[in-house]
Amino acid sequence: MSMTGNRADYLRLGVNIDHVATIRNARGGRHPDPVRAAHIAAEAGADGITAHLREDRRHITDEDIARLSVEIDRPLNLEMAATDEMLRIALRHKPHAACIVPEKREERTTEGGLDAAGGHNQLKHFVSELSGIGIRVSLFIEAEERQMDAAASLGAQVVEIHTGRYCDLALAGDGPGRERELDRIREAARYAAALGLEVHAGHGLTFETVGGVAAIPEVVELNIGHFLIGEAIFSGLDSAMRRMRAQMDTARARLAGQA
Ligand code: PXP
Repeated sequence: MSMTGNRADYLRLGVNIDHVATIRNARGGRHPDPVRAAHIAAEAGADGITAHLREDRRHITDEDIARLSVEIDRPLNLEMAATDEMLRIALRHKPHAACIVPEKREERTTEGGLDAAGGHNQLKHFVSELSGIGIRVSLFIEAEERQMDAAASLGAQVVEIHTGRYCDLALAGDGPGRERELDRIREAARYAAALGLEVHAGHGLTFETVGGVAAIPEVVELNIGHFLIGEAIFSGLDSAMRRMRAQMDTARARLAGQA
């Protein structure tokens, strides 16, 4: 990968396979297998595989994480809440990266970013334990400078900017709101990179919304799940991923043309 300062010419795609497990768990059997989906995603060009082991195990299970840790040949990004149980699991499997996310039992998905600023003291222990054994620690946070400052002072190497609001506004057809939110993400990415943080982004991204985020030069990785798995029903995961990759590359190429 060619890197220029904090900018990367190549934008990595992490594929989140949680919702393959959601479908499997609807019947309680073994099909469809999220590890098989991870292999297909890797063959179709995923740069990493992301999975969220939730406290209630509603999709990914402990066994999935154990298998993903040994069976896939792409970096595993484990999304986890800041709990002692998840910390033990992460330390045991030693994934390439751990993304600390907020988690509420009643939510349908990760609804907002982690309050790295407010939870600073509580989070410190998790960041240092994980990074102490060489796991890259990422914090999933909103596009706010104070959250970026907190992530840097906690010693996290990576921040993942929550793109959920931008995608919700796009879905609602609120053009000006969507542009405002994209500006906020853009500014936060610039700010975070200036602090020396590696910048990722994700949540809710689709073929239609990915270009705006992919065109932010400081963003070096996107993590995309629900939409890709949904599209896979119609076109197959390989084809859905290739189309997503093409949208990302087009946005990035346009950016390179502007440089
Ligand atoms: N990044 C993080 C930190 C997440 O928690 C999620 C959802 O699990 C995603 C990215 C992917 O979001 P989506 O499934 O909406 O693409």
